[in-house]
Amino acid sequence: MSSSNGEREFRINIAIDGPAGAGKSTVARKVASKLSYVYVDTGAMYRAATWDMLRQGIEAEDESAVLKRLENIDIELVPGEEGQRVRLSGEDVTNEIRSLAVSRTVSRYAQIEGLRAKLSGAQRQMALRKGVVMDGRDIGTTVLPDAEVKIFMTATAEERARRRFRELPESGEAITLEQLEREIEQRDELDRNREVSPLVCADDATVLDTTSMTIDEVAEAIVLRAERELSLLK
Ligand code: DC
Repeated sequence: MSSSNGEREFRINIAIDGPAGAGKSTVARKVASKLSYVYVDTGAMYRAATWDMLRQGIEAEDESAVLKRLENIDIELVPGEEGQRVRLSGEDVTNEIRSLAVSRTVSRYAQIEGLRAKLSGAQRQMALRKGVVMDGRDIGTTVLPDAEVKIFMTATAEERARRRFRELPESGEAITLEQLEREIEQRDELDRNREVSPLVCADDATVLDTTSMTIDEVAEAIVLRAERELSLLK
């Protein structure tokens, strides 16, 4: 790949995995912005599919109906000035996919093999030209096993619940911090124990426990790793 001044410009892919609320998306967005890379939030794709299924009244247990419906929808991640927007067959669903209804059911839809295959394929396409920071649950293990930098971010369930609590939309869906912690633990359990592409740490990933780290410290640690990799490519 060449830059505008004719110099060869190397780019890498960065995979960031970990459980819900570990701070992956905030960190991934920062890392992408520091490196001028593209941020891909794969959880948003699972959420958009879930939102559509809920609206259509298609249960996660009805796999064939889910897969049939998937053939007729299109999920797009569109970079925007105020962050990434999510479009479902052209409709902006960026806010809707963060609702509790979606958070509570998304792990059930995310267990469906055909759905994972379709979304993983789209994610791989987005990373073909490199220069992508992608976050999710199975990026380092399944979607981009050759990513040059792999990070597995963790934090205690209590701290993750606190972070998610602060992120809840102001529109105010009533949930207590304790309830949120329980729901996060249940979701982790489903994500860790599903048969297809479960949430596991890749053997070659760097584990970052972020419980007492700031977002900037975590982002900085990842950028340093990326810069080290890039210097090896020169
Ligand atoms: O990161 P998030 O909380 O927005 O993800 C929503 C759900 O999607 C989460 O419960 C697990 C699932 N997911 C997945 O199975 N694989 C991914 N690569 C990303 C998310």
